[in-house]
Amino acid sequence: MESVIIRENQEDFDIKLNEASLALNKGKLVCFPTETVFGLGANAYDDEACKSIYLAKGRPSDNPLIVHVCDMGMAKSLIRDYDERFIKLAEAFWRGPISFVLKKSDKVCKTVSAGLDTVAIRMPNNDIAIELIKKAGVPIAAPSANISGRPSPTRSEHVIFDMYGRSDYIICSDEFPIGIESTVIDLSTKDTVILRPGFVTASMIKEKTGIVVKSVDSSKTVSVPKSPGTKYKHYSPNAKVYMVGSEFEESDVEKFAVEKNCELAKTKYITYKNDLEMARELFSDFRLADKEGFELIIVKPPSEGELLEANLNRLTKACEE
Ligand code: TXA
Ligand code: MG
Repeated sequence: MESVIIRENQEDFDIKLNEASLALNKGKLVCFPTETVFGLGANAYDDEACKSIYLAKGRPSDNPLIVHVCDMGMAKSLIRDYDERFIKLAEAFWRGPISFVLKKSDKVCKTVSAGLDTVAIRMPNNDIAIELIKKAGVPIAAPSANISGRPSPTRSEHVIFDMYGRSDYIICSDEFPIGIESTVIDLSTKDTVILRPGFVTASMIKEKTGIVVKSVDSSKTVSVPKSPGTKYKHYSPNAKVYMVGSEFEESDVEKFAVEKNCELAKTKYITYKNDLEMARELFSDFRLADKEGFELIIVKPPSEGELLEANLNRLTKACEE
């Protein structure tokens, strides 16, 4: 398959976006930008189309997809029960980088929720994404547009690298996204639980809505992972990744490389000014390190910031045990 590549500055962009939205209705796959990372989308009503997402990514079939909507009407049509929490949180944070897990309606196809009776929904804060959903007239199921296990795509070139020949359309954008996937929050039971940390934190939620949120790590009652995706190794470049603490200095790199049996020339040491920069650049730096042939990546994260938990979550998953 040859993918059709659409650039946001091309003259006939609107025509091409129309074409992509029609293609979604015919069961095709379309990669598109969001404010977090790029997504690989299919019509969320179309079971066969959603199956082809799993095929294109090599994604385990028990890992459900997030459904992207363009308005509250569409969101409500996908869910059965919801309460005040959903309304309050959606008002406070949508369009934005937060996905809500709720009991699903019959409209959501089986494959999207991988056999669960819930669905994760989100309204992305990206004009191209919203336009695409509006034009398609259907909600779009979309995981991150990377081959399963690889770093999420935060630049158009990453999407083209992983998805050319696998997705029918690839819509590019030059805007830098946040770089970390949405916060996934479970509203399907009485407890409000963060299943995957992201840009929206528990303290922002408390401050804006008064809702008190549990973090899944501290919730010992969950015996099976509620967010199936969180159990897999993730976000990994080919190079081995290690995280070091704030006491680590540039002068320690050589000794570290020797300990790990790696040549200094094949070792890349990365530090970040702050948490926002780390979110924006981490996955991109992983991919760049691979391209440049590095075999060992040492990352020293910043020691504070709102995005610290989400950053450490992604970094830890990419790290060697
Ligand atoms: O920012 C994002 O969320 C990006 C962009 C493209 O929107 N999408 C994304 O999708 O990161 P993905 O498939 O890479 O991650 C989805 C996460 C997984 O951890 C999955 O297990 C969880 O959401 N998830 C999806 N549906 C769920 C459900 N019904 N119950 C619990 N967890 C769910
Ligand atoms: Mg992903």
